[in-house]
Amino acid sequence: MREFVYYSKNARTSGNFKDLMKAGRIDIVCNVIIQAFFLSNKTREDMHLHLIFDGPPNPPMHFEIISNPDLPISKKDVAGLIKRMLYKQRDGEKKQIFPGCFIEKKSLSKLIDELKSKGKHVCVLDKKGEKLRNADLKDCVFVIGDHEGLPKKLIKEYKKQAISIGPPVYFASQTFIIINNELDLRE
Ligand SMILES: C[S@@+](CC[C@H](N)C(=O)[O-])C[C@H]1O[C@@H](n2cnc3c(N)ncnc32)[C@H](O)[C@@H]1O
Repeated sequence: MREFVYYSKNARTSGNFKDLMKAGRIDIVCNVIIQAFFLSNKTREDMHLHLIFDGPPNPPMHFEIISNPDLPISKKDVAGLIKRMLYKQRDGEKKQIFPGCFIEKKSLSKLIDELKSKGKHVCVLDKKGEKLRNADLKDCVFVIGDHEGLPKKLIKEYKKQAISIGPPVYFASQTFIIINNELDLRE
């Protein structure tokens, strides 16, 4: 499985939102999910995506979406999936809301510690990092920030393992396309 973490500092942590942009840029989250999972004529079968929302009113929230044949994502209603997961979330438990779709309260740092304890190599996406093309991507979990970027503390801590996809600053959703393409080529 390809494993990615997307961190959003302000994404709303309750389902009662209408305007995706005003809900802490959930429009960007929707683009990320589409670019992570969709190809032209099918969905990827090897994607494990974590989303951390750190916005009000109930942060931090951890979503986990894992490829499977019954994954209920429609490109037309990605926001609906997020809303339904938020509405059905219960504090103190990890709930599977749909096949392969889990939600629980968990912070970015706790998630990263858990991934490390499972043997994952934490690769933060940062334009000052090592070139993607030259990097060893074995067991990498790719950590990507929203329009405001990743927490500075995290970038500092994982500076030596940072990966750059090139000199421009790309949209978060574009980083998913570029990394997925590199992994496709290597396979
Ligand atoms: C729109 S960018 C964030 C821009 C934000 N103002 C900043 O300076 O961090 C969203 C995320 O995409 C990733 N990203 C964008 N361009 C990149 C690049 N050239 N190399 C590696 N990661 C990149 C980073 O993880 C970043 O947090």
